[in-house]
Amino acid sequence: MEYQHITVTPLSPHIGAEIGAVDLTQPLSDAQQAELRRAFLEYQVVFFREQKIGFDDQIRVASHFGPLGRHVGVNTISKTTDNPLVRKFHYDETSTRISGENFHSDQSCAAIPPLGSMLYNHTVPPKGGGDTMFASMYAAYDALSPKMKEYLSGLTATHDGTRVFGPGTPVSVHPVITRHPDTGRRVIFVNTDFTSHINEVSRAESRAILEYLYAHCVRAEWTVRFRWRDHSIAFWDNRCTQHKAIWDYWPNVRSGYRVQVEGTAAPLAG
Ligand code: SIN
Repeated sequence: MEYQHITVTPLSPHIGAEIGAVDLTQPLSDAQQAELRRAFLEYQVVFFREQKIGFDDQIRVASHFGPLGRHVGVNTISKTTDNPLVRKFHYDETSTRISGENFHSDQSCAAIPPLGSMLYNHTVPPKGGGDTMFASMYAAYDALSPKMKEYLSGLTATHDGTRVFGPGTPVSVHPVITRHPDTGRRVIFVNTDFTSHINEVSRAESRAILEYLYAHCVRAEWTVRFRWRDHSIAFWDNRCTQHKAIWDYWPNVRSGYRVQVEGTAAPLAG
């Protein structure tokens, strides 16, 4: 099906598309909202350029996908703002670390992880750097052999938020293979940051399987690398992607704001 109310330019065969012909500072028509939702499901992460948005715009656009939620952990790298739904992601010469340097899906430690996250960067390093990479967990699942798919189906993994955010963060058990609630497609749902172990096998077996899956999940064949410019936006479907922020720009400034859309249900077994 073609898009008639927005433009959609795919950026790689498996994941990522740039959306055009929209001004996110203005209300989107019903038809634009519907096509944007379709593009989000089809491409898993969508990007926008040259959008000088404020908090209200970011909240309005993300809210077309569901109610917005709050971070589950005590995230000391990103900061709160005067709006509890918006977090500030700011890095400069004083930064000693950044958020999201390993491939991960956001807060998979939550009983119901976020549906998606929208990051707006108003300022990025002048000579490039600070790209974000996204990997398609649909493509990663599809590329597994039938025997491996069969083996992983029915396994569960523990996702431990304390590994990333410290005490008081949730710990949850999710299927290793999940099914996207809207598309029905299967994905691999483990990630380096939050997954501590697979529950039904020994710790040594779990380590070996997870090591294989982590490397497989982020193979270049099913990634897209987004090169930010000032006033760009990335909006990713957290249920079928992983992402990684590249910190190659110190001491330059990269600065923006993020909101997250609440998930609708615990990840479904695939
Ligand atoms: C994150 O994963 O927390 C942030 C992603 C980014 O800064 O590109």
